[in-house]
Amino acid sequence: MNKQVVLYKKLSPALMTRLQQHCDVTLIESLDADGLMKLRDALSGAHGLLGASLKLDAALLDLAPQLEAIASVSVGVDNYDIDYLTRRRILLSNTPDVLTETTADTGFALILATARRVVELANMVRSGQWHRNIGPAHFGTDVHGKTLGIIGMGRIGEALAQRGHFGFGMPVLYHSQSRKPAVEARFDAQYRSLEALLQEADFICLTLPLTAQTEGLIGAGQFALMRPDSIFINISRGKVVDEAALIDALRHQRIRAAGLDVFEREPLNHDSPLLQLNNVVATPHMGSATHETREAMARCAVENLLAALAGEKPANLVNPAAWQG
Ligand code: DGY
Repeated sequence: MNKQVVLYKKLSPALMTRLQQHCDVTLIESLDADGLMKLRDALSGAHGLLGASLKLDAALLDLAPQLEAIASVSVGVDNYDIDYLTRRRILLSNTPDVLTETTADTGFALILATARRVVELANMVRSGQWHRNIGPAHFGTDVHGKTLGIIGMGRIGEALAQRGHFGFGMPVLYHSQSRKPAVEARFDAQYRSLEALLQEADFICLTLPLTAQTEGLIGAGQFALMRPDSIFINISRGKVVDEAALIDALRHQRIRAAGLDVFEREPLNHDSPLLQLNNVVATPHMGSATHETREAMARCAVENLLAALAGEKPANLVNPAAWQG
């Protein structure tokens, strides 16, 4: 009998065919109230789940007694209770590597957009407010040659460092759990304590995962250490930052600007104070959102799931303790 897979993210025809060659697939088209009801029903027979952007907590997964594997179409795994999955020997896989470069591109898009006020000035042109050559009131600040501070030196942090060092001649500072000698040698990067990095960097970029240790890492105390001309970029997870403290820092010009791809609550409420501030560039959690990369992520997730359901170790296993070999 084929394994039952519940998809809660649409796949390209090629990937759907690949999955259907090996499994019986139930597709949940959308995660609205109706879709969630369908998902709950489908869980009872599911051996595998594949999707993203849904908190799969114990209350939901208790409805899936036969579940063997979850393939997340994301690198972040903060939507899963890993201890619970491991206790149940459910294999969780993610999609690292394939999104690294694209997500770092998004980070740099936010660096450039905030520093050069791209969105604000483009809106000025679009709304017919460009009447004469712009003057100092509309000038931005340079990116090249400025100090790039990266908090969380994983794959995406490294790809940012590469862009900053080789592309923009930026001195690179970083903070992470451990020193990275290879990164230091390649990008001439210097390790700093969190406090020192916040004080020294022109651009402060968060690229670290959301965990119990990183939740709320950047709050009022940390914004107070940043320089008034510094720019804050978040392409990791919204909950790493105390959003109220960020809004306060922006409102009181304690920092120059913020480029944000992630928020405490997503989608961001249209009446969020962040959207009232000209010095904020807010994007819709689009770090990895290109056609090529999203297809590569989905392909990676499909292969992880097929391997797990075939009794093989998935290439991107997040909880090796659940693997019984
Ligand atoms: C990821 O892959 O974790 C991205 O942030 C999309 O959720």
